[in-house]
Amino acid sequence: MKKIPLFLLLLLAGILFFPISNLIGLSGKNEPIPVVSGKSANFAKVSQILQNKCVDCHSPGMLRKPFYSEWPIAKQLMAKDMANATARLILAEKFYSGEEAATPLLLARLESVVRKGNMPPTLYLLMHWTDSLTDDEKHDILAWVAEERAKSPWSRDSAAALKGEPVQPLPLTVDLNPDKVALGGKLFHDRLLSGDNTLNCASCHDLARGGTDQAKVATGIRGQQGPINSPTVYNAMYNIAQFWDGRAKDLQEQAAGPVANPIEMGAQWDTIVEQLKQAGGYQDAFGKLYPEQGLTKTTVTDAIAVFEQSLVTPNARFDQYLRGNQTILTADEKAGYDLFKADCASCHFGPALGGLSYEKMGIKQDYFKRRGGQLAEADNGRFNVTKQEQDRHFFKVPVLRNIVLTYPYFHDGSAASLPDAVKIMGEVQLGKTYTDAEIGEIVAFLATLTGEYKGKPLTSLTAEDIK
Ligand code: HEC
Ligand code: HEC
Ligand code: HEC
Repeated sequence: MKKIPLFLLLLLAGILFFPISNLIGLSGKNEPIPVVSGKSANFAKVSQILQNKCVDCHSPGMLRKPFYSEWPIAKQLMAKDMANATARLILAEKFYSGEEAATPLLLARLESVVRKGNMPPTLYLLMHWTDSLTDDEKHDILAWVAEERAKSPWSRDSAAALKGEPVQPLPLTVDLNPDKVALGGKLFHDRLLSGDNTLNCASCHDLARGGTDQAKVATGIRGQQGPINSPTVYNAMYNIAQFWDGRAKDLQEQAAGPVANPIEMGAQWDTIVEQLKQAGGYQDAFGKLYPEQGLTKTTVTDAIAVFEQSLVTPNARFDQYLRGNQTILTADEKAGYDLFKADCASCHFGPALGGLSYEKMGIKQDYFKRRGGQLAEADNGRFNVTKQEQDRHFFKVPVLRNIVLTYPYFHDGSAASLPDAVKIMGEVQLGKTYTDAEIGEIVAFLATLTGEYKGKPLTSLTAEDIK
């Protein structure tokens, strides 16, 4: 009980004392870091703004030590802020100088806090009341974010005015060896790859069902229920790593997994390689395309990975908008995109609207408590890979291309419909309850992301198209 008045006293002292001390210049100051030559005027401005207003929490080793920085409570508060802040965004010296380029993730997060106006945090502003971002500064930061995005090859096909958007159109063509694509496609659809020859990759990643099985969790050989929902293989090449928890570094490493997984395809690679050698056609094809190695586990998974790189779904209505067709979206779809840009694009950004970062499921609300049921191992997400407590319940942000086709949603397949998924995202990730009208608009926008495969809408692919 005795601690409360003391705490209040300190708080009061703090409220009066720190802002005044900061105002009269008792907080330390860093020398400005010079920007290397060749950077734009916009960047120089932004570097200075961030050095002035963000450095105390986002730049390890660069804290502008105010005189109270060694005081016990202040020291702990600052250390905690620094730890939480740098877990989300690091602005290092090489970033301020321009030597280190900004990643798409940094740009997306920066845009998001500037639009929301939630940085620097309110409590900090109480003590540093001159450190909030002015409208001019916000404008400068957003202009620089757009300028950086316009330089990326991703926005090559975007209309000039839309090159700064957080989402970029998918390329209309991808440059791949067509023979390897064909060979990989044959393997993807070959049941020889499973232990009892009942399943192929397409059993769980049906190209006519948005690259998924449209089931809550996957069903492996002998009807075994898997622990997790099948993500789409379309546009998977845009993922920073593969699987919900990112445990495979790329598509080739990923492709080795399901074959040998006892509850998926349940086979042995040695046996598969032998069987493929005996099956018609494969030996010759591998001999031609991989003359040095021939048919091995490595070349089989390589061919599958090359095929998967061809699974890009361009020319969605939203892509046509991004490429400059200003009238293609309805008012609802546009309103949905505006909401999406403000609320969702800090995580779902880039050409596939996701795949580029790991994020916690349940930032503002405990998703798993809300869902109910037992916590399963798969619910740990990225923790299962890193064994770091701070990664528990983190998942690779799923891509949202063709999202109307890839139901049910989330790693546990627990959201049956897209409106459900959007409602849950709003509540658990943003602490926001959308109206039905807003959900309708966001869903309308998401429905504009359904693209084409081999020049045909994904919704009307026939067995012939996807062989
Ligand atoms: C007093 C410390 C403090 C200052 C100053 C500060 N931040 Fe933060 N920042 C945090 C903390 C703590 C978090 C993580 C928790 C959160 O999101 O509130 C964070 C998170 C962020 C994030 C990640 C948001 C996300 O997606 O989770 C961005 C981007 C960011 N800050 C930008 C800025 C910018 C830009 C400035 C300067 C204008 C700034 N911050 C100043 C403490 C600070
Ligand atoms: C029995 C169903 C099943 C079969 C068969 C199957 N997969 Fe999967 N696939 C899944 C599930 C479930 C996941 C997610 C597993 C996880 O993240 O832990 C997945 C994940 C993936 C991913 C990662 C996508 C992402 O967003 O991270 C790719 C790529 C993929 N599979 C390709 C393949 C290929 C290629 C084959 C054939 C060699 C195959 N799958 C066979 C069910 C299956
Ligand atoms: C802080 C990051 C973050 C924000 C903000 C966010 N999402 Fe997500 N989103 C995720 C993660 C992580 C998942 C995967 C969660 C899981 O499966 O448990 C996800 C999953 C989804 C899914 C399901 C995808 C699938 O294939 O199962 C949809 C749909 C979705 N988000 C839409 C949205 C919308 C719409 C918004 C804005 C209202 C939004 N998200 C905001 C991180 C985020």
